[in-house]
Order: sequence, then structure tokens, then C-alpha cells
Amino acid sequence: MWSTPKFVCQLLILILLEGQSSAIKYKFNPENEDIFTDCPNKPSNVLNVSGLFDTSESTFKTDFVSVRFSGNLTCVWNIQPGDRIQVSFVLNRFDRGTWQPTVFSIMVPDLCSALYDEEQYWYKYWSKYIINKEQVKDKCILPGTKFIHETFDLDILFETQGFPLNGQHKLVHIFKAFGANGVERNTSICFEIIGEIQRL
Ligand SMILES: *[C@@H]1O[C@H](CO)[C@@H](O)[C@H](O)[C@H]1NC(C)=O
Ligand SMILES: *[C@@H]1O[C@H](CO)[C@@H](O)[C@H](O)[C@H]1NC(C)=O
Ligand SMILES: *[C@@H]1O[C@H](CO)[C@@H](O)[C@H](O)[C@H]1NC(C)=O
Repeated sequence: MWSTPKFVCQLLILILLEGQSSAIKYKFNPENEDIFTDCPNKPSNVLNVSGLFDTSESTFKTDFVSVRFSGNLTCVWNIQPGDRIQVSFVLNRFDRGTWQPTVFSIMVPDLCSALYDEEQYWYKYWSKYIINKEQVKDKCILPGTKFIHETFDLDILFETQGFPLNGQHKLVHIFKAFGANGVERNTSICFEIIGEIQRL
């Protein structure tokens, strides 16, 4: 990773692989050294990736081809035990000066129930590298939870069929938390990863 926000690049795959069989192979190359950028025009109760993780014990190094992560991520988002965490991933494409939606988006209604589910893409690309999973698996992403990782390379590869993808894209990540009464917490998280999709 990098000096600041680092995290769920892996989850990109989730969107792009969902429901696909074999087809054209692609690679997503993050274009910013810091990997994560803020969502534009977000209100003050929408936090960026630093509102989700303290990354001071991790490094995220990219050569713009692959990303090597090592160290720890500590959860800092002020949610409560038992909250339901909903995550959305939305892929946008940069076209003639503006960001346009694509067909690739996915909403995971209950992240905590599937954080270490081996069938999930984020397991393959991220949570399988968490060394202390047995200690933290019941805490989901409650504040103070520290994920200790083995060093891993994040190569964001995916396949789709149908229309071809290329050029500049961004993957927008949105996290929302809901209390037992179904009421949304007063802060949410939004951050983006901007990069170039390359056909292999
Ligand atoms: C995230 O938000 C914090 C607080 O508003 C700010 O200091 C920081 O520069 C922002 N951006 C990133 C990428 O962390
Ligand atoms: C990660 O956390 C562990 C346990 O707290 C600690 O021993 C280790 O030094 C941390 N790693 C880094 C890079 O800070
Ligand atoms: C959100 O609610 C908590 C109490 O649940 C409060 O301490 C905090 O100041 C509120 N934050 C915002 C941004 O309104």
C-alpha cells in the first residue's frame, strides 16, 4: 500500500467477476500512488478511507503494475456492535470529460456475515491474508479491530464477457452502517480508486 489509505482494491474484482464466465481478461492498474482518492463533493458526514482505517502501520507500494501491501490496518470508523454494514461498489468510466456509470455495480447488504467467506472475491484478494483472523473474526470492522496481514501482491485481474472495457475507470466504494432499529448511523464512508483498465 501506500503512506495513507489503502485497502479494498481486491474488491474491485468482486464487481467485475460477479456472474461472469470465462471471457476477455483484463488488469486494473491504479494510477495514483496513494491508491485511494476522496469522493468528490462529499458532505462532511461522509468520511474518506482514513475514516475507515488507520493505515499508519502499513505500507502500500505500487509501481503502477502491481501493488504490494504489508502491515496492519486498524479500524477506526465509529460504528456500534451489531450494526449491519452495507457496502456498494460502483464502476464508472471516464468518457469525453465526465464520469459515466457502467453496468458493473454490486451491493453487499451484510459485509460482516461474509468477511471471511472463502467464496467471496475479497477473501481471495484481501481477507485471506489476515494472519490474526481467529482473533478478530467476531469483531468485523468494529473500531479498534486490527488486521495483521502477511505481505501480499494485489494484482487486480478480472474477466468479463460481452462488450470490451478499456481506458480510465474508477471504482467507488461506499460503506453505510445501520443500527438494530434500521436507522443509518450518522457517518458513512466513500472513497475511490482511479485507474486504467488494460486488456491482456
Ligand atoms: C481524508 O479526510 C481527512 C479528514 O477530513 C483529511 O485530512 C485527508 O486528507 C483526507 N484524504 C485522505 C486521502 O486521507
Ligand atoms: C502490526 O501489529 C503487530 C501486533 O500489534 C505488531 O507487533 C507489529 O509491529 C505491527 N506491524 C507494523 C508494521 O507496525
Ligand atoms: C454522530 O453520533 C454520535 C453519537 O452517536 C455523536 O457523538 C457524533 O458527534 C455524531 N457525529 C456527527 C457527524 O453528527
